[in-house]
Amino acid sequence: MKYHLLTKKRVLTGDRPTGPLHIGHYSGSLKTRIALQDKYTQFIIIADMQALTDNAINPIKIRHAINEVMLDYLSVGIDPVKNIIFIQSMIPQISELTILYLNLVNISRIARNPTIKSEIQQKGFEKSIPAGFFIYPISQVADITIFDADIVPVGIDQVPMIEQACEIVDTFNNIYGKNTLIRPKALLSKNGNRLPGIDGHHKMSKSLKNGIYLSDSPDKIVKKIKNMYTDPNHLHISDPGKVDGNPVFTYLDQFGTDKKKIANMKYHYTQGGLGDVTIKKYLIEVMQDFLFPIRIKRKQLSKDKKYIQDILKIGSEKAQEEAEKTLKRVKNAMNIDYF
Ligand code: TRP
Repeated sequence: MKYHLLTKKRVLTGDRPTGPLHIGHYSGSLKTRIALQDKYTQFIIIADMQALTDNAINPIKIRHAINEVMLDYLSVGIDPVKNIIFIQSMIPQISELTILYLNLVNISRIARNPTIKSEIQQKGFEKSIPAGFFIYPISQVADITIFDADIVPVGIDQVPMIEQACEIVDTFNNIYGKNTLIRPKALLSKNGNRLPGIDGHHKMSKSLKNGIYLSDSPDKIVKKIKNMYTDPNHLHISDPGKVDGNPVFTYLDQFGTDKKKIANMKYHYTQGGLGDVTIKKYLIEVMQDFLFPIRIKRKQLSKDKKYIQDILKIGSEKAQEEAEKTLKRVKNAMNIDYF
């Protein structure tokens, strides 16, 4: 294990535990993690401290969500032996490093981050922003750099996070010593962004309630797909329909294996003569096939709370060891290693 840590490049990735994960998380990031887990030392952060920045009154929800997220990870094939999966709050070194970084950045610089800007709007924080929430982009920089991550897989909307990280790394290295911190690189996901929602909104998101969850029951999946947004101008079967911006086809592209059949359906849909009921029926079939093995595995895993607990404990211990090494290096560079 030590050998791997030394020789393989490092990836850092993770999620805020605020609830179970949906198929947008799967195609946007979980799939990438499964692909990367053999080649890299992959750290997966379950960012509970970050989740608390806008859920401070509800820590029980976060605690519950950690378990849900773990079940999602393991049931889609994230391997607990190949990855270091850990809970952010169990690594206090991250919080310490965050405080040190906060001295290297201006409030106006954080406010310019497009991600935080849109989240402030979305959450109605314009008038009063919780201070912890406002600085979470900086704690995210600590999440990445404390593990000497070389690579951070992100969607296009998360690129500013890596830019912020590189700025802090450069500032730190310039002041305290050239080679203290490693500059991370963004690895852009091939699918571009996350999946659209079942309501046609450009992003599937928990707060918009437009997601299909990896843990949804077969009945729920049928209901959700039956009510899915398609092409609003496709009123009669004979009308020509649009494939672009039609989430039914986006999902088919992502999860369907019979590419020929999908291409054929697209052709007929655009020509007119293919109804929404037919394409939805096929999508139901495709999604049930995709989610069936995940559901079975989830059910098995949910019986064994201790197993999940153990994975997190071992992962957090390992992560702490690595974080401590970096923090020592940082404090030494800064001359605050007093005793
Ligand atoms: N912000 C990410 C999310 O919303 C979670 C996260 C926390 C993260 N720290 C990170 C992702 C560091 C990548 C790198 O899910």
